[in-house]
Amino acid sequence: MKKFKKIKCLEKLPIVMEILQKIDSLIADEKCGISEIAKLIEKDPALTTKLLKLANSPFYGFPQRITSVKTALNFLGVNIVKMLLIINNFLEISSQEYFLLWEHCVSVGLVCKILSKKLGFEDWDTFYTLGLIHDIGLVIEKLNFPKEFKEIVEKIKQGKSLIEAENEILKFNHCELGAYLMGNWNFPPKIVETVLAHHEINKARKFIRESALLYLGDLLVWARGLGDSILFKKLEINPSLFQILALDSEKIKELFVEIDYTISEIKTLLSLVFS
Ligand SMILES: [Fe+2]
Ligand SMILES: [Fe+2]
Repeated sequence: MKKFKKIKCLEKLPIVMEILQKIDSLIADEKCGISEIAKLIEKDPALTTKLLKLANSPFYGFPQRITSVKTALNFLGVNIVKMLLIINNFLEISSQEYFLLWEHCVSVGLVCKILSKKLGFEDWDTFYTLGLIHDIGLVIEKLNFPKEFKEIVEKIKQGKSLIEAENEILKFNHCELGAYLMGNWNFPPKIVETVLAHHEINKARKFIRESALLYLGDLLVWARGLGDSILFKKLEINPSLFQILALDSEKIKELFVEIDYTISEIKTLLSLVFS
C-alpha cells in the first residue's frame, strides 16, 4: 500500500521476514515435518534459548523438562516461534521504552486465550498469538514517526481516541499498519483481518466473532490497567461487541474473575520472555 511506503523499519526486517517465510514454506510443504522447522530455528542460538525458556516456564506447566526445539515446537506451536522472532527483533531496537506496550500485548495474548476457551473457540493458540501481535502497528509507528507520535499523544490528551488521533496525524492507524505487515509476513487471513478490526469491529468481514474476541480481550486488559494508560484515555466500546459474543453483564463479571487470576501469571511470563 502506497501510504506505508515511508515506513523505514520494514527495511530492517529482511532477516526476520526471510525466516518467517521459510517457516511458512516448510509448513506448506506436506513432506516436511516439524524437524525441518526445528533445524531452522536451531541456527539461531538466542531464539532457541528463549523458546526453551518459554516452554519450561511454570506458566505452561508441562510435566517433563523440555530440552529440544522439536519438542518445544510440538507443545507451543509454530505461531509462538513467530512471535518470539518478532519480539526479539524489536527488542534489539529498544526494550525499556516499549515495555508497557509489550506488557499490554502479552496480557492481551493470555486473556484472549482464556476468552477463546470460555467462548467455545477451538484454536486457542491462534488467539494467544493474535493478542501478542495485535498492536505491532503501534510499535512500528512509534519507531518510524516519533515526532508525529508525540502529536498523537497530545491529541489524546485533548480528548481524541487513539484511532481518531492517528487518522488525523498520520492518515492511517496502527490497526491498518499492523494488518498490512501481517499480510506481508504471510500470516493467516484470520490474523490479518482481526488485527485490522480490533478497534473497529465494523471492518471485520469473515472473522467477525474472532475480531470481537480480540476487541474484548484488548478492552479487558486496558480496564485492568495493563499498558500505557495515556493511549487509552478515551476507550471506545462498540455495544455490538456484546451481542456478537452473546455476553451479558453476569458473564462479563465471571470473565473478570478468571482473568484476574491469570494476570498474576503475566509478570512471570514477561520476565522470561524479556530476560
Ligand atoms: Fe490496538
Ligand atoms: Fe491493544
